[in-house]
Parts: sequence; C-alpha cells; structure tokens
Amino acid sequence: MDKFVIRGGNPLTGTIRVSGAKNSALPCMAAAILTEDEIILENIPQVWDIATQRRLLSSMGAEVRPADAPNSTTIRCRTLSDPVAKYEIVKTMRASSLVLGPLIARTGVARVAMPGGCAIGGRPIDLHIKGLEKMGVTITQEHGYLDARAERLHGAHIVFDKITVTGTEDLLMAAVLAEGETLMENCAREPEVADLAALLTAMGAKIEGAGTSTIRVQGVSRLHGARYRINPDRIEAGTFLVAGAITGGDLTVANCNPEHLSAVIAKLQEAGARVDILGPDSVRVRAGEQLRAAGISTEEYPGFPTDMQAQYMALATQAEGVSVIEENIFENRFMHVQELVRMGANIKVEGRTATVRGPAKLSAAAVMCSDLRASASLVLAALIADGESILDRVYHMDRGYERIEEKLAGVGAQIRRMGNIFPPRDEPADAA
Ligand code: EPZ
Repeated sequence: MDKFVIRGGNPLTGTIRVSGAKNSALPCMAAAILTEDEIILENIPQVWDIATQRRLLSSMGAEVRPADAPNSTTIRCRTLSDPVAKYEIVKTMRASSLVLGPLIARTGVARVAMPGGCAIGGRPIDLHIKGLEKMGVTITQEHGYLDARAERLHGAHIVFDKITVTGTEDLLMAAVLAEGETLMENCAREPEVADLAALLTAMGAKIEGAGTSTIRVQGVSRLHGARYRINPDRIEAGTFLVAGAITGGDLTVANCNPEHLSAVIAKLQEAGARVDILGPDSVRVRAGEQLRAAGISTEEYPGFPTDMQAQYMALATQAEGVSVIEENIFENRFMHVQELVRMGANIKVEGRTATVRGPAKLSAAAVMCSDLRASASLVLAALIADGESILDRVYHMDRGYERIEEKLAGVGAQIRRMGNIFPPRDEPADAA
C-alpha cells in the first residue's frame, strides 16, 4: 500500500501548477458515449478515477487511447458492444451515475451497477432515476444492478428535489438526444456542469442556461465529434491555496481559474491570509499575521464547496479562536477529524458541525487516509506538524490529485512516496 512520508516545517514558496478538473473530465468522458465520432479531451488529469473511467468505457466497447498531446485522451464509441457498467469497475469509483443517461440516450438500453455508497455518505441516485423516468425510461433494480430501457427518450420538465451535480450532468446528457424540449430546474451551478455543456455544445447540442439553476435543452437527432480542453481543477487550486496559507509561505497557484474560487479566496482572506488574484489564471497566497478563526458552512456552488471542507479544517486548527464548520451536503464527511485530533488538533464534532479551537500545535503521527479530500487535509496538517508523519492508503489521494507529492516537493515541501509510483500496479484492495 502506498504511503507518504512528510516532514513538517517548510513554508511553501514558488509556483505550483493546477491540473485539469477530475470532476469535469469524468462527465466529459461519459459524453463520448453520445456519438460514434471521435472525442478528443485535453488537460485530463492522470489520476486513478480517470483511469477507472477509461476502463469502464473500454469495457463497454469504446476505443480509448492517449491522444497526441500530453494529458489528452481520445475516445471513440463507434459501437457499444456491451452497454453494461460492471460492478467490479464501478465499485472503485461511482462512475455509473454518469454513464446511465448517455447509455440510454445512445442505445436505448443500459445495465449499470448501483454505485453504492462511499466513506462520505450513502450517495443515492434516486434523483437521476426520477428524472430519467420522466423522460420515458423504464428502470428496474435487481441483484445490485439497474436495468434501464427506453424506446425513445422524450423531453420533460424536471425539477430536482435536491441540487445534485452528477444528477444535473447525467440528465443533461440524456436530454441532448431526447425528442423535443427538456426544461430542468433547481440544477447544480458548479463550473463542471458548464464545462460539460460546453463540450456537448461543441458536439452539436442545443443547451441554454448551463451554470445557472435553469437549463433548457432542445433535443437533436445526433451529435458529432469534437476536441475540448477541460477547465482547471478548482478544488486542487483551493487545496494549494490552503497549503500556502497554512505553511506561512508565499505560493503562486498557476493554471487555475480565480473566478471559480471566490468563496474559498474570501474565506482565506477572512481568516487572515493575504490572497491576491494575479491574472486570469493565477492566484498568490502569502501568510498574513496570525491566522484568525472564521467559520464555514458548506453549500452548493457558488457557496463554500464541501470538497474544500476538510482542507479548510486543517487551516482552522492553526487559527486563533473558535472556527465552527458546518457540513451541509454529505452526512459523513468528518472522517479526517479523528486523524487531525491524533496530531494534536482540538476539534469536537456534534452531528454535522465541527468546532475547531486554535491555534493547536500539531505533532507528526502515523495517520490513515479515508477518502479523497480527507487525505488532502492530512497532507496539509503534516506539512506543518512537528516531525515526520506517515500517511497510509494514499491511493485515496491518487484518485483526484495528479502527482501531488512532486508538485508539493517542487515548492519546498519535504514529502516523498513509499511504494509504487502512480498508477499503482494493483488495484487498491478497498478502494471503495
Ligand atoms: C459531485 O458528487 C462530485 N463528484 C463530488 O466530488 C462533490 O462532493 C459533490 O458533487 C458535491 O459538490 C463528481 O462530480 C464526480 P451530489 P455527486 O449529487 O454528484 C444527494 C470529490 O471529492 N443526492 O451533488 O455524487 C447526495 O446524497 C467528490 O471530488 C440525492 O439524495 O454529489 C448529497 O447529499 C466527492 N439523490 C447531495 O444530494 C441523488 O440522486 C449532493 O450530492 C443525488 C444526490
């Protein structure tokens, strides 16, 4: 099992570059199902979840291969010989929630393993199913699989009961080939939705309102190939901004989109970090005076992102005062708390609220990664802890952060990996 060894104490200085957004790449790769033409995607991060998505598409009959430029991938679903999202692939990454809609739209049939939950919550897909049924899909569930059929998808008026990112993306990919108009309300406004819509539009789809809570789609009879460059990963960028602030360094985060980081930048400034937008693709973070407590409440975009909650909590352990952190999106997203407490943090959890008292001196420890963003939180804590920490099960980190140890070492972190370089030779035993 891969481990990170991190010695704390070095301020991070210099420039660190952000990769493409994993959560844009995943739906954009699924969108290739919608056409028999070739889709070329650029700025794809080399992370475990992308490798899994490639395997899933190949298992269905897609031709998937690296494209001409680095971090690019070419996908061609000339035929889909086996439109099944198999459990042994889906269990490592909940990808089936993003192929259900496109498979139905393209082939009229789909058999996808129920994605199951993960460390942070139950992760149901009932809203995906509800929307697809309104578009004419018949869905049955048995033996852990969803079997979906539709003669021809037709447009519908869909109002999401809850805001769901992949629910919005899944149904958007169904709607673009459905007969007639689909109106979707209470949609997710995350930039990844707009990224997907931009690719679909380049493929010939007719979409209005992506990135807002109301999306209107005029179905078309077919879509054609396209080449598209994925947006930068706003969560990786936010993670690096916290790294610069928590280590008291002077770090420029390049290849990012500051417009997608407003809530994170505002909160870091409120907590006393000096954050300056240097241009359309870079942000500089420097230590201010003593970090001061500032609470967060995670919300759908453009609010403070749930995917940054764990990373912010590491920073809050160093802030003077009491920071109250509310996790409103997922029911179990405090797995990092006990590990931070083992390093000396003062955190109390009551339901979906964590109360962090700081500043607390953190000491190095052997800790366990439990999920993608919890892992990032532990890396951030280890970067300032006194001594050498060992982080186990870092494959969780490899799911969503590209070459994270090389990037951090490049700006002064004392971090090295023990074990295989990504991609790991064997699939992690419990990469659920
Ligand atoms: C996406 O997950 C992201 N994943 C998550 O990032 C992110 O944390 C999440 O959105 C929220 O921003 C990808 O884009 C691949 P949701 P998703 O549907 O779409 C409930 C990471 O760290 N819900 O927006 O699965 C659900 O339980 C990952 O990169 C239903 O009840 O999240 C949750 O409480 C983790 N029924 C809330 O909605 C449904 O049918 C928001 O979930 C769907 C969702």
